[in-house]
Amino acid sequence: MSKPPGSPIALEQRTATDDRLHSPSAGRNRDAIAAVLADVLPPDAEVLEIGSGTGEHAVAACRARPDIRWQPSDPDPASRASQAAWASEADGAIRPPLAIDLLDPQTVADLPPFDALVCMNVIHISPWGVAEALAALAGRALRPGGCVMLYGPFMEGEATAPSNRQFDASLKARNPAWGVRALDDVVALMAGHGLALNQQIAMPANNLSLIFKPSEPR
Ligand SMILES: C[S@@+](CC[C@H](N)C(=O)[O-])C[C@H]1O[C@@H](n2cnc3c(N)ncnc32)[C@H](O)[C@@H]1O
Repeated sequence: MSKPPGSPIALEQRTATDDRLHSPSAGRNRDAIAAVLADVLPPDAEVLEIGSGTGEHAVAACRARPDIRWQPSDPDPASRASQAAWASEADGAIRPPLAIDLLDPQTVADLPPFDALVCMNVIHISPWGVAEALAALAGRALRPGGCVMLYGPFMEGEATAPSNRQFDASLKARNPAWGVRALDDVVALMAGHGLALNQQIAMPANNLSLIFKPSEPR
């Protein structure tokens, strides 16, 4: 899988304070997400985050769980600069960001194992190949006792919220390769890499937190 030249990277709305970018949606959601992460992350977890955006979620999670270490990443240089700037507020818990692009296998070739893989608001706003690469990465580099946390909107068949149907249509109008992913498809994809859905947590604004764990002990 290679990234087509010039394929766009979608970024959320942001405002700036020096290098630190602020995402209104991260500002609204980060406390609820940090509470979920505080509950599910293993003790002293080494966390790898994919598509960290502004880096605000990392700070909130590390404040909620001072025992963890957080590795942010993003293909977008301005996002990485923001992540590095926000890291100064986390007492050394947040590592310098990595330039991980899940459509470029070289950027994940030499990653060390991790206890948790976190990916929020990414797989609907990127090609399905990003979800495939994420699942493959989790399948090969998650340590025993670890977990994967996905956050965002999902299509849930008849139960899909109207706002998520509208969001799906707007994403596809912007890029036919994007779209709100079907929960069943994501669960099947992860199962193909030995990861079973362990918790499905309803979040504000019709989002879900999905927690996956190895289906067999590693
Ligand atoms: C909508 S933003 C979400 C940012 C952050 N996770 C949040 O929830 O606030 C999507 C993020 O996915 C990243 N992204 C897009 N394509 C990616 C890819 N191929 N590999 C890794 N990250 C990607 C973008 O750079 C961007 O930071």
